[in-house]
Amino acid sequence: MPLQGGVIAISGLVKRFRVDGAELTALGGVDLWIAPGEFLTVVGASGCGKSTLLRLIAGLEHADAGVLSHDGAPIAGPSLARGLVFQEPRLFPWLTVAQNVAVGLENAPLSRAEKALAVAEHLTLVGLSAFARAWPHQLSGGMAQRVAIARGLVNRPDVLLLDEPFGALDMLTRARLQDELRAIQQRAGATTVFVTHDVDEAAYLGDRVVVLAPRPGRIREIVDVKLPARRDRADPRLAGVRERVLRALGEDPGYPRPALVADAAWRRPATLAPAAVLQ
Ligand SMILES: Nc1ncnc2c1ncn2[C@@H]1O[C@H](COP(=O)(O)OP(=O)(O)OP(=O)(O)O)[C@@H](O)[C@H]1O
Ligand SMILES: [Mg+2]
Repeated sequence: MPLQGGVIAISGLVKRFRVDGAELTALGGVDLWIAPGEFLTVVGASGCGKSTLLRLIAGLEHADAGVLSHDGAPIAGPSLARGLVFQEPRLFPWLTVAQNVAVGLENAPLSRAEKALAVAEHLTLVGLSAFARAWPHQLSGGMAQRVAIARGLVNRPDVLLLDEPFGALDMLTRARLQDELRAIQQRAGATTVFVTHDVDEAAYLGDRVVVLAPRPGRIREIVDVKLPARRDRADPRLAGVRERVLRALGEDPGYPRPALVADAAWRRPATLAPAAVLQ
């Protein structure tokens, strides 16, 4: 059943860091309202403040100015209601794969059997059932990241924050997980903020695409995708979205020129199985 709530409101958000004695403004005034159940993607050049924005929403950082709230309550620290999947897997090496996923349920009001079932379902979802009792050092980088994704999803948070979660995966796995994540998000109704470098990924997944500009990090443009959640990668309307995003990024020297990137749009491989959805 879709969850209620999951509104994230951000206003006048400023975040500064001190680096080598100098002050660096990572975010220089961000205003953003994220609707319940929305899938928001965030793109921008390296260092423009994407991870910082996500960490602030997660409650892992404090703002220097401005307000962040989740369903009207100020975000003052981390919460089980906001799940976070990082750029790198961050698995506990002393726990098995299943135990690492179960960490996401540590404080959940579920019986042992319910937790075991949820862990098993999410390992199946990311294609790692056979590795439930493996140790993190026995996994490839992509497999480890899939464990981290299962851990972020297992508690079905009402806000899911993902920081380039698919960056280390091969193209087929990445495409499959994109579709699965979107299907899960549709069913659970979780508000999702998904950070990526990849313009195709941002357009394919997002209800809206936020384009950040660097130094100081700020919103350059928000592109409204206006397409249903289930999409065809070859849909020409997606190409239009990609072009708008690339144009907004094109002013940024951290990104290649739009003309170089627009041709690289790839189609969903014909051999790809339909997304497996948790029943
Ligand atoms: N803990 C920190 N201490 C000092 N500076 C930081 C810290 N975290 C981030 N920064 C700085 O803030 C800016 C934004 O960093 P952030 O990690 O948010 O960028 P990003 O957009 O996620 O980049 P990438 O795409 O490379 O992951 C960078 O200039 C970075 O050096
Ligand atoms: Mg980052």
